[in-house]
Amino acid sequence: VSSDTDSKNFRVKLVLLGDSGVGKSCIVLRFVRGQFDPTSKVTVGASFLSQTLALEDSTTVKFEIWDTAGQERYAALAPLYYRGAGAAIVVYDITSPESFNKAQYWVKELQKHGSPDMIMALVGNKADLHENRTVSSQEAQEYAERNSMFFIETSAKTADNINQLFEEIAKRLP
Ligand code: GTP
Ligand code: MG
Repeated sequence: VSSDTDSKNFRVKLVLLGDSGVGKSCIVLRFVRGQFDPTSKVTVGASFLSQTLALEDSTTVKFEIWDTAGQERYAALAPLYYRGAGAAIVVYDITSPESFNKAQYWVKELQKHGSPDMIMALVGNKADLHENRTVSSQEAQEYAERNSMFFIETSAKTADNINQLFEEIAKRLP
């Protein structure tokens, strides 16, 4: 049994970016409350939630999550949320090539203006809609590798890979 002094407790500011409707708020709701909302409303400005994740080695990570609004009118606010962030999740929808283009825009913006040691994840969400897939896993994987990000496909609806996403981020923390 390890004492408190043996365990490490991390805290990280995390931001989610991506086109409106890709499922950012649903990913957060799934991770924080274990729920899915098929009638999820568009986010206005941004919303804040936190969740602590316990890892196998008794490390805990408290995620302080900024879920940003993807609608174009809010784009100028994004720096308020990604500034000082230790991790970013850039989300697209596997059925929407436009949303994959938008994800690449956010990656470039983070590379230009985010902190250089930021952990970045590229997330293809709505993996349950694979019958309507238009963005290939391979294309996204290769893009992620070229940009030093890790790549994962998730479904906020079925919960597929949602915990894994946050665990992968936690593992990469310095
Ligand atoms: P903004 O707040 O406008 O930036 O959008 P958002 O990225 O937060 O999208 P939101 O999480 O509100 O989800 C948009 C729609 O997609 C909702 O109708 C969700 O129910 C649906 N949705 C989200 N995730 C999934 C998923 O994994 N699978 C399916 N099938 N639908 C999803
Ligand atoms: Mg939202």
